[in-house]
Amino acid sequence: MRSGDVLLKMEEVSKTFPGVKALSDVNFTLRQGEVHALMGENGAGKSTLIKVLTGVHPMDQGKVYLNGRPIVARSPLEAQHLGISTVYQEINLCTNLSVAENLYIGRLPRRRGAIDWKKMHADSEQLLRRLNLNLDVKKSLSDYSVAIQQMVAIARAVDMSSGVLILDEPTSSLDAQEVQQLFAVMRKLRDEGMGIVFVTHFLDQVYEITDRITILRNGSLVGEYETSKLSKSSLVTHMIGREWKEEDEHRKTESSYTPEVVMAAKSLTRAGSIKPVSLSVRKGEVVGLAGLLGSGRSEFANLIFGIDQADSGVMTLGAEQFQSMNPKKAIRQGIGFCPEDRKIAGIVGELTIRENIVLALQAKKGIFNYIPLKKQQEIAQRFIDLLRIKTPSMEQRIDNLSGGNQQKVILARWLATEPKLLILDEPTRGIDVGSKGEIRRLILDLAKSGLSILIISSELQEMIECADRIVVLRDRMQVGEISGGDMNEASIMKMIAEGGGTSEQYPQTGS
Ligand SMILES: Nc1ncnc2c1ncn2[C@@H]1O[C@H](COP(=O)(O)OP(=O)(O)OP(=O)(O)O)[C@@H](O)[C@H]1O
Ligand SMILES: [Mg+2]
Repeated sequence: MRSGDVLLKMEEVSKTFPGVKALSDVNFTLRQGEVHALMGENGAGKSTLIKVLTGVHPMDQGKVYLNGRPIVARSPLEAQHLGISTVYQEINLCTNLSVAENLYIGRLPRRRGAIDWKKMHADSEQLLRRLNLNLDVKKSLSDYSVAIQQMVAIARAVDMSSGVLILDEPTSSLDAQEVQQLFAVMRKLRDEGMGIVFVTHFLDQVYEITDRITILRNGSLVGEYETSKLSKSSLVTHMIGREWKEEDEHRKTESSYTPEVVMAAKSLTRAGSIKPVSLSVRKGEVVGLAGLLGSGRSEFANLIFGIDQADSGVMTLGAEQFQSMNPKKAIRQGIGFCPEDRKIAGIVGELTIRENIVLALQAKKGIFNYIPLKKQQEIAQRFIDLLRIKTPSMEQRIDNLSGGNQQKVILARWLATEPKLLILDEPTRGIDVGSKGEIRRLILDLAKSGLSILIISSELQEMIECADRIVVLRDRMQVGEISGGDMNEASIMKMIAEGGGTSEQYPQTGS
């Protein structure tokens, strides 16, 4: 087999879910030694194509050939035995086990009936070295960052794969440096002849790492292209099915905030998590929180919403002061919080879209103030339309939605509470390029109508477009602030890297 030879071929694959034709006669070809992007809007069918290939769902119709031979995988395990391994965005490893155990779980090496720990540790080290990773394999996986955990999942997949590696949105929780680390691994595997399927909503990454692109729209194949011959605007035009130009930035032209301070945090600290941070948000103001992964952005958001308690400092909401906060109180006080980790703090899988949308509103009103079904339906429909949530019905279980559409439901949940302050932690992660623009526009509209927003995003450009002011955190400390025309990627990156240099005083209540 040589690089360029067809490794995997899917022919005329169809799959229907109740009310949804998720795939119609899709063809897909993966070659040896290539990284192949699978692109499409939220709900286009990318994950479904992967899931029917890997035996998560049976396909209604279609054929799959691996190295020219027809195959049928009836379960992910069978797919793995055939040489097809998948790493999903949500890592399903056991963080309480060691790195080595995670690599060999379900296939622990044995010697005379007992687990051969020595061999397992030696093999693990060798496997990780192949990916240029230097970890203590005896340490618990939870001692490592999400990025490293992701790499361990990939190492495990690579070890069991005989040629096909599928990565469904693996980079959405990695920072720029970690993405590069992952790409280095992908390049190495590609050079070894592996075929890699890569799903992402970050267009820049597609152009950086992929050789070819297959585009799906509404469950149908649009086409297959060489990455170097497809412009960004053609790519998006094919994805959304209408003309798209790299839009002029939706950047705020004018700020619409008033002097009224909606929320002020004064010297909030939490041991091991946040050194004193003081920050206030005015009515109608959008404040961005910038910093590297682990700089304390999400930790700070957790303090404001009361998921974690501050050790010292006070928080002022309107005229009231709070020494401690908890989520219930926060919701009553008019705070909404769209968390970063939606799998843990977000969706309730067994509930419907409607139920997920009204959840926080119901909590705000209290359980004795039940929202009538009709009203619930009205609210759910409004947000399904506003955010273009792709579903056959609001009574669909939320875990049947595509990843990006689940995301939109969580955003809807908090908008439905009509908060005074909305905290958005990575609001467009996993959202397709078309909807990203719409969500940014929505944020600007909401601010104009008087909502105060605290936004955290790893995409600096996104914050620059939305925010009136950006506060930079570094090493769990506030190191500076940039506003207005001074906000650009270079100035923010500089502050993130160097810290200090704050020029403006931020407003504080009572001073
Ligand atoms: N288990 C399921 N039951 C019912 N419908 C489903 C199920 N899984 C997926 N769907 C539907 O199939 C369609 C395709 O979903 P899929 O998850 O493949 O989209 P995607 O391209 O991966 O989108 P995203 O970018 O948001 O991850 C969507 O309309 C989705 O609601
Ligand atoms: Mg998906």
